[in-house]
Amino acid sequence: MLKIGYLTLDVPFFQAPLSGYSDYAMRAVARDCGCPLVFAGLMLAKGVIHPRVFNNPEFKAGDDEHPIGAQLLGEDPEIMAKAAKIVHNMGYDLIDLNFACSTPKVIRRKRGGFLLNDPDRAIEIYNAVRQSVDCPVTIKLRTSFDNQSRDNFWTISSRAVELNVDALTVHPRTVSQRFTGSADWQFLSEVKKQFPTTTIIGSGDLYSVDTIKINMKTSGVDGVSIARGAIGNPWIFSQLRQENYFPPTLHQQGAIILKHFDLVCKLYGDKKGLMHFRKFAIAYCKLHPQRRKAQKFLISAKNADEFISLIRQWYSL
Ligand SMILES: Cc1cc2nc3c(=O)[nH]c(=O)nc-3n(C[C@H](O)[C@H](O)[C@H](O)COP(=O)(O)O)c2cc1C
Repeated sequence: MLKIGYLTLDVPFFQAPLSGYSDYAMRAVARDCGCPLVFAGLMLAKGVIHPRVFNNPEFKAGDDEHPIGAQLLGEDPEIMAKAAKIVHNMGYDLIDLNFACSTPKVIRRKRGGFLLNDPDRAIEIYNAVRQSVDCPVTIKLRTSFDNQSRDNFWTISSRAVELNVDALTVHPRTVSQRFTGSADWQFLSEVKKQFPTTTIIGSGDLYSVDTIKINMKTSGVDGVSIARGAIGNPWIFSQLRQENYFPPTLHQQGAIILKHFDLVCKLYGDKKGLMHFRKFAIAYCKLHPQRRKAQKFLISAKNADEFISLIRQWYSL
């Protein structure tokens, strides 16, 4: 079980916000495999103010998707508060504030992980958002901006906890590390010890059921947010729900790939859908016994019909 404000999930894991990936199709497949909470991709608060944004399948919350979280990016407390209200009115059940994104363009604009340099601004944003919505509000952080001390992390997190943040998600790398090195799960134990009554969610290097179980046990975090480990592997959610699990059969893999692809084509049309699905096809093939060969054939498909026949052929459907 995982409590995030008034939301209660029956299991302590969910799918992370994944920019460029976590659209309606990926979220639907994750839910089908037992994921109890999904997130849309990171939304720029300034952009959310224009209703057109919600025509994008990455950002439109379907009626069948509850609970669903929105993650906001921005540097201006007033705009972040306005965006949070709009997003909540558009059907999102939870607002997560991104103080972790390490993309250079985001950092240059003093957003995302940059806010680890500016605890006062980070808390101003949190306060403004908290006051604008009545749904759970959470914060995603990294450990620090670069190799400086972690004081700013502790300042932001302690103040947010005093101000009743509903959960802290921590990706224990520095912003300047981006995705290099390994996630420091020892730091997550320290965070949980420091805030025993706040929901603490861990993120980082969670690629397998065994790693997730070990990291949860040793760090004591309340839950985990699964990111790269869910791309092309939605079965991670069903496996986490079972005591003894088995890898998906070739047939099960093919069935999910076809379902995911069908949803993608419905969202984007066949041509754009095929392009969009390539990165997923490559990821799904990681579980195929002839990974390289299967990848090569699948990404060579010229149109949706050809792709579907190749899936049937490679996955014995
Ligand atoms: C393709 C991709 C997109 C991501 N998009 C987001 C995002 O929109 N918001 C966010 O907070 N983190 C995002 N992340 C970071 C992940 O949520 C996660 O914190 C990070 O990948 C570490 O977890 P992992 O090692 O288990 O993947 C993204 C990561 C990847 C690889």
